[in-house]
Amino acid sequence: MTFFQYHAGELHAEHVPVSQIAKQFGTPAYVYSRAAIEHQWHSLDTAFGDYPHTICYAVKANSNIAVLNLLAQMGSGFDIVSEGELRRVLLAGGDPRKVVFSGVAKSTGELEFAMRNKVRSINIESVAELHRVQAVAASLDVVAAIAIRVNPNVDPETHPYISTGMDKAKFGVTMEAAFEAYQLAAKMPNIEVHGIACHIGSQITKTSPFTDALSIVLDMVKRLRDVGIQIQQLDLGGGLGINYHGETPPSAQEYVDGMLASVREHGVDLPIAIEPGRYIVGNSGIMLTQVEYLKHNQSKRFAIVDAGMNDLLRPALYQAYHEIIPVAEQSTSPIEQYDVVGPVCESADVLGYDRELSVKSGDLLAVCSAGAYGHVMSNQYNSRPKPPELMVDGDQVHVIRRRETHDELTLAESLLP
Ligand code: LLP
Repeated sequence: MTFFQYHAGELHAEHVPVSQIAKQFGTPAYVYSRAAIEHQWHSLDTAFGDYPHTICYAVKANSNIAVLNLLAQMGSGFDIVSEGELRRVLLAGGDPRKVVFSGVAKSTGELEFAMRNKVRSINIESVAELHRVQAVAASLDVVAAIAIRVNPNVDPETHPYISTGMDKAKFGVTMEAAFEAYQLAAKMPNIEVHGIACHIGSQITKTSPFTDALSIVLDMVKRLRDVGIQIQQLDLGGGLGINYHGETPPSAQEYVDGMLASVREHGVDLPIAIEPGRYIVGNSGIMLTQVEYLKHNQSKRFAIVDAGMNDLLRPALYQAYHEIIPVAEQSTSPIEQYDVVGPVCESADVLGYDRELSVKSGDLLAVCSAGAYGHVMSNQYNSRPKPPELMVDGDQVHVIRRRETHDELTLAESLLP
């Protein structure tokens, strides 16, 4: 969170006092730092040195078109999981030739859209999907480049809801089935075998799950070579973790060095694509909220804030920990232990349990590390309009998504005739 720092007792986003942003745009609000996003992306890019690579930013982590545009301008590729995400990438000026298309349930329409836009690779997640891709490509009279997303059955040692590379997960194709699927794909007239893909989970804070998975992938590449199938790209997915609360994930350099050592050891130094999401945007954003009321009963004190689980779902859904810090560093209020809770009528609407805070009604709080899987997972439950997204760039603040209005909440609805 180095682009969000206290200066003169006030939390700043780059050069802008966060209280000023709250005053101008209201709360709750998401605030991102352009410099932070750029810094994170470059740290991965430079870690590869001159090794051929593509960073395919995972759009699902934060799909605001201004964020995508920023990344596209830096030369990023994108990992998408829907037609909607591809449309966003195109709208933001992204290059479809640097797009990989993941996802277990791609519809015929989505596949057509992806093929018409000539994405680099469709990452196949089942044999049934392979047959559908062949059929769609034949109907469009094109050749579709594919990778098979293998499931190496490696434990990423992260939260079970964000583990994807074990054999009980719905994702990918087992190694044995993948070997056969590649041979089938190689015979299909409208399929070009392009790569091999693998994504084992998210918020991974060690290097070993990545290198363990990679080693299994590289063995498969060699096995395929032996039967005349040449893989041209290794897509190693996303998953690099960040520091939310004392975690010590590998640095970009350690993460990349681990991969490069492994490919060199196996003698399979093919171009690499990675699909980082959280690493690029997670600590590049905060969610600003204001204390509405304080309240206590015999056992608990509550700081009731104006942002809820509809605005930031991660704590309720994954028991995720987000630091909650005051916008004004010093306060005269006594330090107490609070559950920071939102306005939504659910007991799970808790942004943080047992937080030591010195607050009073009207104070501003920043929920940290909210740039990834924050606004994208927000919803309008309890008929709450979605918060705005603001991008700070030096001493400027840009509205990259305005606050939703109450009128918009019912816009797609109609009364019975
Ligand atoms: N590639 C694929 C195929 C994925 O499924 C994902 C994330 C990524 C890349 C990006 O992973 P990252 O680098 O961001 O870890 N909503 C959850 C995270 C779900 C991740 C889903 N897949 C959360 O808030 O923690």
